[in-house]
Amino acid sequence: MRIAVVGSGYVGLVTGACFAEFGHDVILVDNDQPKLAVLKSGTVPIHEYFLPELLQRHRGRRLDFSADLHEAVRSSATIFIAVGTPPTDRGDADLSYVESVAREISGAVNDYKVVVEKSTVPVYTSEWIRKVILRNGTDPEAFDVASNPEFLREGTAVTDFLYPDRIVVGVDSERCASVLREVYAPLTNGNYYERSDAVPKPDRARIPAPFIVTSTKGAELIKHASNAFLAMKISFINAVASICESVGANVQQVCQGIGTDSRIGPRFLNPGIGYGGSCFPKDLMAFRSVARECGYDFRLLDEVMRINEEQRQRFLRKVRSALWTLRGKRLGVLGLAFKGGTDDIRESPAILLVQALLQEGCQIAAYDPAAMDRAREVLNSRVEFAGSAYEAATGADALLILTEWEEFASLDLERLNEKLKYPIVIDGRNLYHPDVMAQHGFTYYSVGRLPAIPQNQPAGASSILRNNHKKA
Ligand code: UGA
Repeated sequence: MRIAVVGSGYVGLVTGACFAEFGHDVILVDNDQPKLAVLKSGTVPIHEYFLPELLQRHRGRRLDFSADLHEAVRSSATIFIAVGTPPTDRGDADLSYVESVAREISGAVNDYKVVVEKSTVPVYTSEWIRKVILRNGTDPEAFDVASNPEFLREGTAVTDFLYPDRIVVGVDSERCASVLREVYAPLTNGNYYERSDAVPKPDRARIPAPFIVTSTKGAELIKHASNAFLAMKISFINAVASICESVGANVQQVCQGIGTDSRIGPRFLNPGIGYGGSCFPKDLMAFRSVARECGYDFRLLDEVMRINEEQRQRFLRKVRSALWTLRGKRLGVLGLAFKGGTDDIRESPAILLVQALLQEGCQIAAYDPAAMDRAREVLNSRVEFAGSAYEAATGADALLILTEWEEFASLDLERLNEKLKYPIVIDGRNLYHPDVMAQHGFTYYSVGRLPAIPQNQPAGASSILRNNHKKA
């Protein structure tokens, strides 16, 4: 099938590359000429596993780039809208890019088209897209509008696309549903997975994924409700972690006990310094705003956001209680990205914490495997950017772990201990076992677990630490 994908941001690029991988002919449209030039030259602007390979495989063959939306619409059977929906000052989604694309599409419809919203949008957006296309003179029989939300996590977006838990399509006609069935047929009939050059199957892949057909409004709500539920799960376990700290229980054990209930499941139950990124914070605000407009006061979401914010404050209190005064202290920081496996620092709790610590007069040496270039643009010059985790730790009064990168979970602990001025680690992602850290001579603070101290600490240090931890 010939498919146009409008918007070559994170969602559009992954969607376009994966449709080409299915065997469709894809034209990726963007009005940002410099960005198009970068893509045409073979540069991959985002850090995403398997994306370079897919772009390399399909660029100039099944995948083309263009600024000509009119022509792309005329030559395509389906048009996926994947432009940005940034938050407005009021917290709802700014849909002006979606509207202007819809307007342009209407002038180019020459035969039956399916227009699909892929961007994360509030309920009623597909109705608005339909209205805008009609207002601009298009025959109502010549198009349908569908909603096909994405559930892609940054870093694993390509495998999430090719091995989805489910494919959700919101449609208001059977004709439209059958076009989308055809788009996703290589996944639902399993043909893609039989190919020798298929992107490798991740653990837990559900093959073939269920193809869920709903109304357009239903699909729009599924996207917001899914993200809100996942964020709620994280805030829930962060709240439980705080109670664990107060009573001296280990949140990891509690998570195991909760997560083995198949109705709850173990995923997204990792406590830490709170969720960040370009999706959860924005989507929760947008969903709350949608609910408010519909006359429902979704206070549960306020609480999810409050706990998330509080989690960073708790971490700061932990740093203070480990180091007493902060002015002039040198801190090694591991991780700046909002999560491991990405160079994205949007709404990163790590960046927010670094900014707060700078404000308190700390000196910071930070290392991140992928996000340092982006971090340089937002952090002031007081941050030193180190070439490795060990360099960030060198001479530091304490080491802070702020992003769950795999490489931070397998550091050479003896080497790390030698580098630090004081062997204190404050781990916002629970990457280490407290006993192991204590055995390696570290005083170790984490989330939802009692602090660990090495055997040779002076008598009484242990109870002081534990009491401080409770207060934090
Ligand atoms: C999220 C959703 O997981 C995707 O399904 C969705 O498609 C996407 O938003 C979107 O709306 O586009 P993403 O923002 O890439 O994906 O990141 P996640 O892997 O969900 O992590 C979000 C944040 O939660 C990160 O800061 C991460 O560190 C944190 N997190 C995640 C936890 O603190 N604990 C966990 O157990 C899981």
